[in-house]
Amino acid sequence: MKTFSEYKLKNLTLKNRVVMPPMCMNMAEDGHPTDFHYIHYGNAALGEIGLIIVEATGVTPEGRILERDLGLWKDDQIEGHRRIVDLAKKYGSHIGIQLGHAGRKCGISSLTTLAPSAIRFSASYPMPKEMTTEDIEHIKKAFRDAAARSVEAGYELIELHGAHGYLLHEFLSPLTNKRTDAYGGSRENRVRLIQEIADTVRSVVPEDFPVILRVSASDYMEGGIDLDEMVEIIHLLKDRFDMIHVSSGGLDANQQITVYPGYQVKFSEVIREKCQIPTITVGLITEVGQVEEILQHDRADLVALGRILLRDPFVLINQGQGIIAPLFAYRRGFHVNWAERNRK
Ligand SMILES: Cc1cc2nc3c(=O)[nH]c(=O)nc-3n(C[C@H](O)[C@H](O)[C@H](O)COP(=O)(O)O)c2cc1C
Repeated sequence: MKTFSEYKLKNLTLKNRVVMPPMCMNMAEDGHPTDFHYIHYGNAALGEIGLIIVEATGVTPEGRILERDLGLWKDDQIEGHRRIVDLAKKYGSHIGIQLGHAGRKCGISSLTTLAPSAIRFSASYPMPKEMTTEDIEHIKKAFRDAAARSVEAGYELIELHGAHGYLLHEFLSPLTNKRTDAYGGSRENRVRLIQEIADTVRSVVPEDFPVILRVSASDYMEGGIDLDEMVEIIHLLKDRFDMIHVSSGGLDANQQITVYPGYQVKFSEVIREKCQIPTITVGLITEVGQVEEILQHDRADLVALGRILLRDPFVLINQGQGIIAPLFAYRRGFHVNWAERNRK
């Protein structure tokens, strides 16, 4: 099965095509991982997930979505992350981290929220501060420093969070970016912040280290980003990223989304084909059979399983068992290696 075939991404060779996508667990303390994270990500590795992408991690305190999100805005947060990384690697997974800034969707009332323009998300959110040039420089530096800390913690991939209506997505979308300077207006200007952050992140990670971008392929709103616009955006960004993680929505509280199994796969398929860049697809994919169908039809290079992994971290093993005989050999082989690893 293609699901259980290796995949090479820069210096990483993943043992299969299944990804745990970033999912905020809201269990950190002042940005530091807690025992919860060691169990949670350790389980994903025991569940034989090829690539774990650790939840949205704030590059600044107000970059968190909620108070108990993970952070990497200061050096003393590195150690806790290193322990997550060591556990995941010890039990056979590769592990990356999603670095993000919540922008106007920061839900921590004591902090000033930042956005490209002073437009609030909804009546229950505070009015964000329109970012000055100095604020932009500060955020670029924060991404760079958090990337350097990620490498120091041992993470093997960085995903920039450009989706779901958080800061980088707010810069991309004409609905939330009304700036008249070099960061707003034309498509070229709206992508500029992500380009500059990608460049500064690249400057602190090794040459062969994968840096990927998560996007929302549609705002599901009149006047917002649609798939055609996202294809054009990716054309302007693709030289800077090794892969695009294709999600959708989250920018506007009035979005109209119809969800069904695999509802975002089409976005991945079109971006992969038109932009000639590898993709991860995600969204209501819960069966190994679905994963295999997507891969066999070249609709994505990797497939992420989100909520199903929260319910059952061993879904890959549980579902894999019944599927085909060679899988038993694969699994036996893996467990021999696992036992060996434990003996070291
Ligand atoms: C509890 C929870 C937390 C999430 N946190 C993040 C996050 O930190 N970053 C992100 O890009 N997406 C986040 N997501 C979205 C997931 O990565 C994924 O795209 C979404 O759950 C759809 O996949 P699924 O249908 O397989 O769950 C989160 C989703 C859930 C359920």
